[in-house]
Amino acid sequence: MKIQIITRMLTVVAICSALAFSGLAQKPSKWVAPDNAKTLKNPSPAAAASIATGKELYTKSCKSCHGIGGLGDGPKASVLDVSCNDFTSKDFKAQTDGEIFYKITNGKDKMPAFSKSIPSDADRWALVNYIRTLK
Ligand code: HEC
Repeated sequence: MKIQIITRMLTVVAICSALAFSGLAQKPSKWVAPDNAKTLKNPSPAAAASIATGKELYTKSCKSCHGIGGLGDGPKASVLDVSCNDFTSKDFKAQTDGEIFYKITNGKDKMPAFSKSIPSDADRWALVNYIRTLK
């Protein structure tokens, strides 16, 4: 009798914690770049040529998760347990170019680091310039 009650209680606890954890995993993560990334200067002016390069790279390497307009709604986003965030949001736009460059370069969890697959700094700055144009 007692053992049955304890077993039932443990089952309830297990189900509740599983629900709590799955809830946590769906929340958008708050990813803060380190302070020294904030002041990194963008050496590539946001000229048409740089933006065009950024667009090409974005279409090839980022669109599948971040979506064509940067809303975080690419086909791969639905299978991720974290949000890809929204490049058109006020919070995202409040970041400096340096913070965005840092995140593209270093990645985090499901967001790949692009330091090796897009090794040119100028190309990663071009991505920053292109992402800035998304509205
Ligand atoms: C496999 C899916 C995937 C691909 C491909 C991908 N990203 Fe991401 N990206 C993510 C996820 C997931 C996050 C959120 C990471 C977190 O906060 O844990 C993210 C976050 C970011 C952020 C930070 C957003 C913020 O709110 O500060 C930037 C910038 C970014 N990605 C740029 C890019 C660029 C540029 C590319 C292509 C070169 C790219 N990503 C390719 C999944 C992806």
